[in-house]
Amino acid sequence: MAFSPKRSETSRCIIAGCGGHGRVVLDILRNAGGCQVVGFVDSDRELVGRRIDGIKVLGHPDELPALRSAFGIECGIVAVGHNGTRSALAGDLERAGLRLVNAVHPSANLAQNVILGRNIVIAAGSLVCAHCQIGDSVILNTGCIVDHESTVGKATHICPGARIAGRVTVESGAFVGIGATVTQSLRIGRESIIGAGAVVIRDVGAMTTVVGVPAREIGTVLKQAEMHVWQVPEIASNRTPVMPEVTASF
Ligand SMILES: CC(C)(COP(=O)(O)OP(=O)(O)OC[C@H]1O[C@@H](n2cnc3c(N)ncnc32)[C@H](O)[C@@H]1OP(=O)(O)O)[C@@H](O)C(=O)NCCC(=O)NCCS
Repeated sequence: MAFSPKRSETSRCIIAGCGGHGRVVLDILRNAGGCQVVGFVDSDRELVGRRIDGIKVLGHPDELPALRSAFGIECGIVAVGHNGTRSALAGDLERAGLRLVNAVHPSANLAQNVILGRNIVIAAGSLVCAHCQIGDSVILNTGCIVDHESTVGKATHICPGARIAGRVTVESGAFVGIGATVTQSLRIGRESIIGAGAVVIRDVGAMTTVVGVPAREIGTVLKQAEMHVWQVPEIASNRTPVMPEVTASF
């Protein structure tokens, strides 16, 4: 029998992915309010039925349409670290009829004119300054800084404590490692990897790995070559992306 929701002020939400990042996202949603997490889905079927921080793993992502109706789920968010997988799963949630929501920790500080896409996680202590644009399925992890007028493309991950200076463009699918620094006005190419603690002082090409201070190239990210699901042509072609204006909360 289909679940019949009672009228409430919170949306019933599912989290896709119950690993470490899933736990962080659950904590953010509990702190932020605005939605009630009713379960996880996870691609590891062995986890189905287990409880993670008090919330049950209800099923596999393939079962989302049935779970939606059985549990009255209205919205969802993907909590998976891998950029391509996170973006692909967001599509699965939408096809299942779920609204994608953002998880913004109350201690994160966002300028009023920041433009956010959907399925975004902004963890505790992050700072996002004036006129930044943050694309769909981005993770701004704990305590990172994105300074003024920067664009963070779809399905990128800015790791804990990383610092992006003003007017930087981080193209889709890039990974900026923990504690890395990107100096002002640079372009970080799509699907590139910035190593932990690197200080980037020059543009980084697409699918390139750089490390060190100052950052130097150590290779090309060949293993991600087949996974272009996150590509955003507007960013790749140097134009300012147009993203829907949504509020920082729900
Ligand atoms: C950059 C990174 C992806 C490279 O991984 P990799 O491709 O497996 O590279 P390797 O470990 O084989 O290292 C290759 C070389 O780069 C060096 N190197 C790797 N990472 C480095 C870093 N962050 N800073 C400086 N040098 C680094 C290695 O010492 C090695 O040097 P050598 O050839 O002189 O011995 C990885 O080291 C890294 O920094 N990951 C980020 C982790 C992170 O931020 N996690 C947070 C998750 S929330």
